Amino acid sequence: MAHDQTTGAGATSDEAIKTYVMGLQNAHALEKQAIQLINRQLERIDHYPEVATALRKHHAETEGQIGRIEAMLHELGSDASKLKDLATQMAGNLAALGHTVMPDEILKNHFANCAFEAFEMATYKSLIAMARTTGHAAHVPMLEANLREEEATFQTLQGMTADLSAKFLQRIGAGQKADR
Ligand SMILES: [Fe+2]
Repeated sequence: MAHDQTTGAGATSDEAIKTYVMGLQNAHALEKQAIQLINRQLERIDHYPEVATALRKHHAETEGQIGRIEAMLHELGSDASKLKDLATQMAGNLAALGHTVMPDEILKNHFANCAFEAFEMATYKSLIAMARTTGHAAHVPMLEANLREEEATFQTLQGMTADLSAKFLQRIGAGQKADR
């Protein structure tokens, strides 16, 4: 490890590359989890079609992101179909939030979705740095494409927070079902 260069020119040791591959595998697991999280919410949303629309759009994007990650893994000799897709602990906890039935389910899910997108943004920023450092600069455009979609989704979700909260309260005030 002493010969590794972690700054400057790069880190191209086997260990460094293995770590980069593991990062891509984790991102793959994360996006698979994102699909499940979105599907679960789409099954349950009744009164917030604007949320469903945003989730459906990002569902389609996420399928594309998974495809990009699989292409990179394939090139690195790692077969995505053999991945166990174990999510990271934190992503698992965030996803668990999205599986909990609560009187303010739509808001809790919204918070979890924002947190999930922020987690994904950090993941891709990290992978972009690792790709450059390990000599896989050719992957950067694909990772940046994923990052841009996460950032745009994060902005969209954040932008919905005030209206969503007001609508939730208005429905409660009008005696309407507001939870989902
Ligand atoms: Fe995402």
